[in-house]
Amino acid sequence: MRPIQVAASITTADFGNLYRVVRKLEHAKVDRLHLDIMDGHFVPNITFGPDVVAAVRRLTRLPIDAHLMISEPARYADRFIAAGANTITFHYEVDESAEVKHETLARIAAAGRGPGLAISPETAAAVLADYVDELALVIVMTVEPGFGGQHFMPEPAAKISDVKRLLAGRPDALVHADGGVSAETAAVVGGYGVDVCIVGSALFQRGQDAAREVEAVKRNAGSVPWHG
Ligand code: DX5
Ligand code: ZN
Repeated sequence: MRPIQVAASITTADFGNLYRVVRKLEHAKVDRLHLDIMDGHFVPNITFGPDVVAAVRRLTRLPIDAHLMISEPARYADRFIAAGANTITFHYEVDESAEVKHETLARIAAAGRGPGLAISPETAAAVLADYVDELALVIVMTVEPGFGGQHFMPEPAAKISDVKRLLAGRPDALVHADGGVSAETAAVVGGYGVDVCIVGSALFQRGQDAAREVEAVKRNAGSVPWHG
């Protein structure tokens, strides 16, 4: 059984009750919290910003992954560093030059946080080749970024293997699958070698036993053989 981590996305949780949400997720034994930052410009939806990340930081010792779906990560990365995120990931697709992207990743690393790049469903894994040495994580999107609760897309999930191959010399760098991941779809991303399953709405559906779901995701993703 390959060890799989679960990162809980709170995008579809009750933002009025973050204290309870975080306690529930700790109780369900998630490994990390995944906070989706959307600016209404890079994606057609708005969630929250660094102040909410800082508020969640005060509520838990779990590692926090900030997933920036914003147009200007270079401008705002420092705010998420200050908010206490453990990793900060922005999208390869943003309209910033390679030079600026390298600089932002370096700034995140210099602050002692894990720098990451995310790729949307249409983006090829190969674009990450120039960044391999700088990355602590890669998020492979298995839905179009912007909303929780969408259906898992199996085709982009196949890129997880490509990213794992690119990161072969970087065993410490982890590949996260994001979007529509649940006990039902975990075996697919597990088969491609995923390290971290990001699970959102599957933990927050009415009547759902979150602890059971977390356990099932780990079991289903970790028990499929993966031949890297
Ligand atoms: C999508 C976000 C995801 C998502 C996860 O843009 O990055 O983190 O909300 O939630 P589910 O599991 O509901 O797809
Ligand atoms: Zn996300």
